[in-house]
Amino acid sequence: MSLKEKINPSKLPQHIAIIMDGNGRWAKQKGQERIFGHENGVISVRETVEAAAEVGVKYLTLYAFSTENWNRPQEEVIALMQLLVHTISAETATLNKNNIRLQAIGDLQSLPADCYAELNEAIDQTKNNTRTTLVLALSYSSRWEITNAVRQIALHLENKTLLAKDIDENTITANLCTSSMPEPELMIRTSGEHRISNFLLWQLAYSELYFTDKLWPDFRKEDFYEAIIDYQNRERRFGKTSEQLIS
Ligand code: IPE
Ligand code: IPE
Ligand code: MG
Repeated sequence: MSLKEKINPSKLPQHIAIIMDGNGRWAKQKGQERIFGHENGVISVRETVEAAAEVGVKYLTLYAFSTENWNRPQEEVIALMQLLVHTISAETATLNKNNIRLQAIGDLQSLPADCYAELNEAIDQTKNNTRTTLVLALSYSSRWEITNAVRQIALHLENKTLLAKDIDENTITANLCTSSMPEPELMIRTSGEHRISNFLLWQLAYSELYFTDKLWPDFRKEDFYEAIIDYQNRERRFGKTSEQLIS
């Protein structure tokens, strides 16, 4: 039985989020520049998107560039942005062929103009696809997103279109970039780092976390399936007792 066949389709996560980490170390191990790792990371992105679509995962969110990543050496930032523009334009046809819709979350207007334009074009060209939604987190950080949400809610209060007493969890959720998506049931991080790095802090409240030592450019379909199988063997209690779940 292959790993893919071991996945229980009735317990499939609807939304999987991934912190793709370890590109730089992967390149260094090979005596190469960090950008070589990012370039090879694109192969893993392709594999993972394909795997998600094949098993029927509805949302796949990939953390591609964080707010904090702007602080990296300028030449790495520029190379990453160029890689992004190039990859998005090269992959749009494949996304359409596979019926995959592209979306993005983050401070997209802070991206270089060509990158922003390319991204919007790909989002527009794939907007009617229905099989899987690929969400790129770009210039994204959760604190940025939550701060933004608070600002939007404050505007509603100022305009008297919302009363303070009516603010509940749904108000917050509705003002996040992910308002149209289900919360991720599973979050994967590669490269052996055990931290969240400012990713989806609100949305991950009850997600199952899966860490693997594999560096992102080595991540393949089988690794993705393995994470799903691990997730399916967990008991999600949401604060209840095990006995309550059985009855
Ligand atoms: C992840 O790999 C890609 C991005 C953050 C853009 P890194 O570039 O963080 O690689 P390491 O963690 O330094 O090995
Ligand atoms: C997190 O990886 C951001 C992305 C994968 C885009 P980093 O490599 O930037 O995170 P830290 O600095 O190790 O926490
Ligand atoms: Mg890293």
